[in-house]
Amino acid sequence: MAILKIARMGHPVLLERAAEVADPTAPEIARLVADMIETMEDASGAGLAAPQVHVPLRIFVFRVSAQRGTGDADDVPVSTTVVINPTVELLGEDVRLRWEGCLSIPGLRAAVPRNWRIRYTGVDTHGNTVGREATGFHAGVVQHEYDHLDGILYPMRMSDFSLFGFTEEMERAAQMQAQQRAAEARALEQAENAA
Ligand code: NI
Repeated sequence: MAILKIARMGHPVLLERAAEVADPTAPEIARLVADMIETMEDASGAGLAAPQVHVPLRIFVFRVSAQRGTGDADDVPVSTTVVINPTVELLGEDVRLRWEGCLSIPGLRAAVPRNWRIRYTGVDTHGNTVGREATGFHAGVVQHEYDHLDGILYPMRMSDFSLFGFTEEMERAAQMQAQQRAAEARALEQAENAA
């Protein structure tokens, strides 16, 4: 197993349409998938697509950790899942903004419109069918990873560029807002005690 180098936005491999995998059960595909999982875990990512490690094939891996799922019945935690030659069908008209990052766009995040409910299919490295209906985070991460296979990065899906920034700055701003609210609450409490 090996940790692979991740391509960053600007590398042409991220803009290509990736090719179908002729034999998902081939040993070299199993090796690539094992390395992709190790690379995703090392980078603390929720998903990784093969083009992100410079391999233009239709493969992605993802996981839904206990903290990430929305609690919806179709958005429960999912252990690391491999999807080869996927299809994704958007279900319904419910499109919501969700915060996303990407290992190929380090340090940044944005609110991206994604379909709330989808159905996806594919195969794993044993040739077994995988896939299901998914909502929320699960549906969002699958749409994000699937887009990588068509050369689409999340900024190309954005509708409101004011919701795009450096994670560090946005966390600092959120922290400052929380401190300000706490100070206001304390001042109000003091004023009420004085009255
Ligand atoms: Ni990504």
